[in-house]
Amino acid sequence: MASPILGYLDPDYLAIMDHTMVLLRHLFQTDNELSIALPGTGMCGMEAAVCNIVEPGDEVVVGIHGFFGQRLAEIVERHGGTAVRVEVDFGQVVSTDQIATALDTHPNAKMVAIVHGETSSGVAQPLKDIGKVVRERNKIFLVDAVCSLGGAHVPVDESLIDICYGAGQKCIGGPAGIACITLNDRALGVIDARSRPVDTWYLDLTLIGKYWLSDRAYHHTSPGSLLYALHEALRLIQEEGLEERFARHQKCGDLLKAGLTDLGLELFGDPANRLPMLTCVMIPDGVDDATTRGRLLRDFGIEIAGGFGPLKGKAWRIGLMGYSCSERNVHYLLAALREILGN
Ligand SMILES: Cc1ncc(COP(=O)(O)O)c(C=O)c1O
Repeated sequence: MASPILGYLDPDYLAIMDHTMVLLRHLFQTDNELSIALPGTGMCGMEAAVCNIVEPGDEVVVGIHGFFGQRLAEIVERHGGTAVRVEVDFGQVVSTDQIATALDTHPNAKMVAIVHGETSSGVAQPLKDIGKVVRERNKIFLVDAVCSLGGAHVPVDESLIDICYGAGQKCIGGPAGIACITLNDRALGVIDARSRPVDTWYLDLTLIGKYWLSDRAYHHTSPGSLLYALHEALRLIQEEGLEERFARHQKCGDLLKAGLTDLGLELFGDPANRLPMLTCVMIPDGVDDATTRGRLLRDFGIEIAGGFGPLKGKAWRIGLMGYSCSERNVHYLLAALREILGN
């Protein structure tokens, strides 16, 4: 990020953009030509994914299994769509049958949108069978992979995902402030067929796509330092290897879950679908949330997150993402918790 800044149309900068697209296709496991970075955080990816597809009056089936699914539904509605909410309790996953039923009762729905890694609950939503149901009915399938991309398989083409986005700061191991997104020709076809222009100029993917792929014409001033960092993080992912990287996240996640259980703590969420990179664990009775997290931060330099929504004050969320995902960090956290909790 400290490298000298290049102009957003400098041939050397355009070459970095081109290589970033190659690396993003590798990470998203897709052939989609439009696999690009966006100037904003993960929410920029979410907003862009939704607003390019949704027109006023469109119905979108939103699978909700936590906080970020609720946000997806809210954003659909802000862009004039109607969110058909298929909601399950925090910690559970949405079933393929539930999505199929929602599509049967809302045959005009344009899209199905769902979060893969629900950061609020630590649960991984299975995608493949939902992808099949959505494709059979010729709808668009949108997946939020902000939490999981870079730490677990998100095989976009194989899972029949039409639009997928992630963010730099999570398992990709880069900075916040840069998102990435991929769209296939089905999604681009729906955008081309819109009856009115996308209602945000800044996130209009047709215009942004021209800067990345064809005209190379000015749309916005690309955030150079952030793109350098994303590019380098993606290069490191390629160097480590996808399988090796995902295995590292799985191994450390398993080690953490086993260690927390040994400490007598109770893990949260569907045991069959827990995320490796985000572990949600219940705060034991009699233990104060703020005091414990404060001591972890002050005395040990470890930051863990509190609970969201129904888990506020009741659970902790522990991230093992990208560079921070190491056995050493797991052992250090477990030792610190043992000391603080006196277990
Ligand atoms: C699943 C999910 N989606 C979207 C976002 C939004 O990303 P950002 O905070 O980078 O805007 C987050 C952030 O934690 C997330 O976990």
